[in-house]
Amino acid sequence: PLTAQANSQGNLEIGGCDVTTLVEQFGSPLYILDEETLRTACQQYRDSFAKYYPGESQVLYASKAWNCLAVCAIAASEGLGIDVVSGGELYTALTAGVSPAKIYLHGNNKSREELTLAIDSGVTIVADNWYELRTLASLSQSEQPIRLMLRLTPGIECHTHEYIRTGHLDSKFGFDPNDLNEVFEFVSQQPNLNCVGLHAHIGSQIFERQPHRDLASVMVQWLRDANKYGLNVTELNIGGGLGIKYVESDDPPSIDEWVKAICEVVQAACAAENLPLPKLLSEPGRSLIATSCVTAYTVGSYKTIPEIRTYVSIDGGMSDNPRPITYQSVYRAVIANKLSEPHTETVTIAGKHCESGDILIKNAQLPKTEPGDILVVMATGAYNYSMASNYNRLPRPAAVVVANGEANLILQRETYQDLIRQDCLPERLKN
Ligand code: LLP
Repeated sequence: PLTAQANSQGNLEIGGCDVTTLVEQFGSPLYILDEETLRTACQQYRDSFAKYYPGESQVLYASKAWNCLAVCAIAASEGLGIDVVSGGELYTALTAGVSPAKIYLHGNNKSREELTLAIDSGVTIVADNWYELRTLASLSQSEQPIRLMLRLTPGIECHTHEYIRTGHLDSKFGFDPNDLNEVFEFVSQQPNLNCVGLHAHIGSQIFERQPHRDLASVMVQWLRDANKYGLNVTELNIGGGLGIKYVESDDPPSIDEWVKAICEVVQAACAAENLPLPKLLSEPGRSLIATSCVTAYTVGSYKTIPEIRTYVSIDGGMSDNPRPITYQSVYRAVIANKLSEPHTETVTIAGKHCESGDILIKNAQLPKTEPGDILVVMATGAYNYSMASNYNRLPRPAAVVVANGEANLILQRETYQDLIRQDCLPERLKN
């Protein structure tokens, strides 16, 4: 949750659990996933599509935001499908019991091994480029044609960080729309490829609605073109990308507003083209999971540089949350054990890595902070654990899911033994 709630002790409480107690129990740093917030976001997406779209719809969770067994299982239990982008994510989703009929495999360079796993498990493959399309045509010998979607680059610009933009023409993802007729023609000649739909994704952490409106309208034109080739294309996947509020100044549309905007355009464009309504898919990642998780750290060292800055160091950093150093992302923090105290200090929260840029938050407004305090960074559910590393050989933190006052481990804390598990020391190097 993005709003921090205090319990009777004045401590931060999530899912009925006192965060300071969770840290005593499970250690620090700790990812804390609030099940109810995640389920609510899944329901909001589902309900909004049901409300604004008279045709069939399916929400997929873009699991790159946080792929692990428990998260896949929760999303699937809410009726969502799962978008995966690698053999590893696919394997996790399948192991979590997600129905292959609701799994979609993305990626601009899927290996033969990944494609084979996908074909054998019967998931839908989102073909990204010519090389892959030809590989798929050669791989498919079975009776059962491969269920395929085509990813296209719509050439739509949106205002977000350069590294997380994907829809502009100069993108490594997707077919060039100028090749569309050729692609459709090729696919229509492959009896083993069953092209069911078209996909596009324009970027992430987007606050405007117009880019997705434009995308929806372009995609309906593509759909019309596909049908000229006798392809039975009935699904449109509009991608993900809705932004979330990390800090007060962020102002994204609500899930409801975002879904409404897309549904209106698809309906209007289909009516204008006299096309039946396609099955409409979307694959949000961040907006489904970001606000349902926080990361709890323990405050340690302190350094005050007079007139310049106070650094407050925590026991994690860029290895468990690489977003600030990678994208200059901003976050908000609270002190779990001082929730109701006034914010009297401006401090910079530093990670513990040997790297000057390992700063989680610049100029955070906090109560007077001391070593041993539990500092909680809000809205860390998306692209934190999934992008975590072992830089400086820090073990990855544990994660718990909390609901109704109960906490269950969903990811074990790595140990030092885990860190050297894959290390090999050739005999001749032994001391
Ligand atoms: N579909 C496709 C094909 C995608 O590439 C992505 C995100 C999504 C859906 C989900 O987008 P979302 O709803 O989460 O915006 N690591 C970056 C974000 C990279 C997003 C990559 N693709 C970050 O931490 O901001």
